[in-house]
Amino acid sequence: MKQPTKVLFVCLGNICRSPLAEGVFRHLVQAASLEKQFEIASAGTGNWHVGNPPDRRMVATARNHGIDLSKQRAQQFKPHFLETYDLILAMDGQNYETILSIAGTSGALDPSDLQKVKMYRSFDPTPDDGHVPDPYYGDAQDFEACYQIVARTAKALLKDLSQ
Ligand code: 4NP
Repeated sequence: MKQPTKVLFVCLGNICRSPLAEGVFRHLVQAASLEKQFEIASAGTGNWHVGNPPDRRMVATARNHGIDLSKQRAQQFKPHFLETYDLILAMDGQNYETILSIAGTSGALDPSDLQKVKMYRSFDPTPDDGHVPDPYYGDAQDFEACYQIVARTAKALLKDLSQ
């Protein structure tokens, strides 16, 4: 049987954007009965929130859309994730550069490894500037805007990976 595709979503704190992407993408995968085809996780390039649940404002926003993030816990991105995962999706350019820099300094610089690192919004049908804006210092509207971007892109991502 075909091995599952291992997908990792990465942001800075792993308490807002990437846990949302993990939860939304898992929700879509379950709705399509494709659980056996994917392994899904998220991580942050920073370590401040390791072990914590997602930000309560992100949990509330996701819950408004029928998605439960409450059981997720933050972890920090580790160099070996470059080998473990098939697709590593950075929420913004800063996260992308940090992942590439970790790849460089850790020696996990096999070119085939680096191709698996992409910007999340490279799958967005309307990618704007290509970044998922960080809602952490924003208000409820910013969290909802983040949800809309992440959800739209997650749909396109699943369509792309299911082809
Ligand atoms: P995230 O948002 O990267 O989407 O999880 C942030 C959460 C926390 C911090 C920054 C961004 N922080 O500085 O603690």
